[in-house]
Amino acid sequence: MIADSPTTAIARVAFIGGGNMAAALIGGLLKTGWPVAKIAVAEPVTARADWLRAQFGVPVAASAAELGDDADALVLAVKPQQMREALAGIRTRPGALVVSIAAGVRLATLRRLLGDSLAYVRTMPNTPALFGAGITGLYAPAGTPDSARALAQVLLAAAGDCVWVQREEELDAVTALSGSGPAYFFLLVEALREAGTALGLAPEVAAQLAAQTCIGAARMVADAGQDVSQLRANVTSKGGTTEAALQHLESAGLRAIFAEALRLADARAKQLGDALDTD
Ligand SMILES: NC(=O)c1ccc[n+]([C@@H]2O[C@H](COP(=O)([O-])OP(=O)(O)OC[C@H]3O[C@@H](n4cnc5c(N)ncnc54)[C@H](OP(=O)(O)O)[C@@H]3O)[C@@H](O)[C@H]2O)c1
Repeated sequence: MIADSPTTAIARVAFIGGGNMAAALIGGLLKTGWPVAKIAVAEPVTARADWLRAQFGVPVAASAAELGDDADALVLAVKPQQMREALAGIRTRPGALVVSIAAGVRLATLRRLLGDSLAYVRTMPNTPALFGAGITGLYAPAGTPDSARALAQVLLAAAGDCVWVQREEELDAVTALSGSGPAYFFLLVEALREAGTALGLAPEVAAQLAAQTCIGAARMVADAGQDVSQLRANVTSKGGTTEAALQHLESAGLRAIFAEALRLADARAKQLGDALDTD
């Protein structure tokens, strides 16, 4: 049975796929006190299975078909293209929760593979999950029991913050913003360090300045207790250096560039979803 509330939810969780994301979630769950005996993994790569056993002490089967049928929650953590093969022969108990973290795989596709007797939550985490600092967008269709939603949130909260969306299509926008977002940030750090080097700084000095500036600014966004627009205004003195730079970024259309970049990422997520939805 799916447990009734997050506080009592010591559900049996089976991870299908034991890659980076699964490891981030398992590590996070164990840190919260989730009993190792309540976690199982299906992972076909022997070296990876050995690593998971050594790292977490969890039992690892070579395939989902070799897992028992008693999981309260299945976390689908394989690449989208591997999903059909990964679920072959899986046994499930009616009412169990299926949480997918696979990019682009729609719930209609999962229903076709696993049937209608399960509760489904589709999610989109992001890479900082590997450091417990991720954010995950979650979607559950109407009629999903509150207990299933709560359990999905407890599982994903092991990797960071959680935010629910109302429509499955919104997960494409989540993909465009937070899924791909860390790469936009990395590009910003790269651009800053290149610009600093062009101004005559030693490359390693420019790299350190760029990285720590972004880390420090990110901490201010998280902890300063002020809206990010206010934080920007606070450091933009009239006639000063920051204003000179920001005026250029605004007039060069940085906001429009980001709007278009996210629109393209959203469209690409839809295309990838269509391609995976064919079977
Ligand atoms: N990493 C991210 O930042 C991120 C962010 C958002 C969403 N996601 C999504 O999360 C999913 C997993 O990502 P990931 O980064 O954890 O990928 P990953 O590290 O490649 O993990 C996938 C794991 O599943 C294993 N696998 C393959 N076939 C299997 C089967 N038949 N049965 C059981 N396990 C099987 C893979 O083994 P092999 O080595 O043989 O392939 C691999 O160990 C993907 O759909 C990805 O789009 C990832």
